[in-house]
Amino acid sequence: MEFVVTADGSSTIYHEEIGEHYHSKHGALQESKHVFIQSGLHYILEKDQLDTVAVLEVGFGTGLNLLQSADYAYHNGVKLNYCGIEAFPLPTATIEATGYGQYVNAAVWDGFMQVYEQALKEDVTIASCVDLRVAHTKVLDFQIDKQFDVVYFDAFAAIHQPEMWTDETLAHVCQYLRVGGVFVTYAITGNLKRSMKALGFSVEKAPGAPGKREMLRAVKVE
Ligand SMILES: C[S@@+](CC[C@H](N)C(=O)[O-])C[C@H]1O[C@@H](n2cnc3c(N)ncnc32)[C@H](O)[C@@H]1O
Repeated sequence: MEFVVTADGSSTIYHEEIGEHYHSKHGALQESKHVFIQSGLHYILEKDQLDTVAVLEVGFGTGLNLLQSADYAYHNGVKLNYCGIEAFPLPTATIEATGYGQYVNAAVWDGFMQVYEQALKEDVTIASCVDLRVAHTKVLDFQIDKQFDVVYFDAFAAIHQPEMWTDETLAHVCQYLRVGGVFVTYAITGNLKRSMKALGFSVEKAPGAPGKREMLRAVKVE
């Protein structure tokens, strides 16, 4: 694991075995804010006028998307239920070393750092507006008796980890998204669009984060 500074000054991690970074080299923070917060979280809150929102993230990693979501919830008076799926959780010291605390309210960062290890075993609360659970499991083994409003799909790219982008994996994840719920990811390919349409989604090419022309946003219609 090697830390790398991305174009917006925020750091990411390079995973040598996979041969890819955890975030966009064009800006880890900007990617998180654009793809997951603006195009996913903010979008559904506005679309459905919610004040409580449940997010399922595939590939929890460093927790950058959780931190940005929690900070958004903290500043906008929203209650956030967040569940991350992560097969290979990072050590607390690695997460601490990302420096992501500088981009969020101290209550969010301190709260997250205090409960991260506990969140891998049970439900925890951060800054009194965020309930967090990180399911330490491979995505296909993940099971929960719950429906979510948003899926953040933040797997390594299909070229590096094709099994994360198969119809089987997408169908498995999307069974936990309610009708009207939103699926967002930083990538868009013909295969992904076809898979999502076949799963009963209306698919939209949304403007991409810096360095990417487009990203995929899909709303579950059936
Ligand atoms: C692109 S990185 C995620 C970045 C993360 N969202 C962040 O902000 O740091 C992909 C993540 O998927 C995890 N992962 C890989 N294979 C997985 C699997 N089969 N099930 C669940 N998570 C997996 C990796 O360990 C890694 O943390």
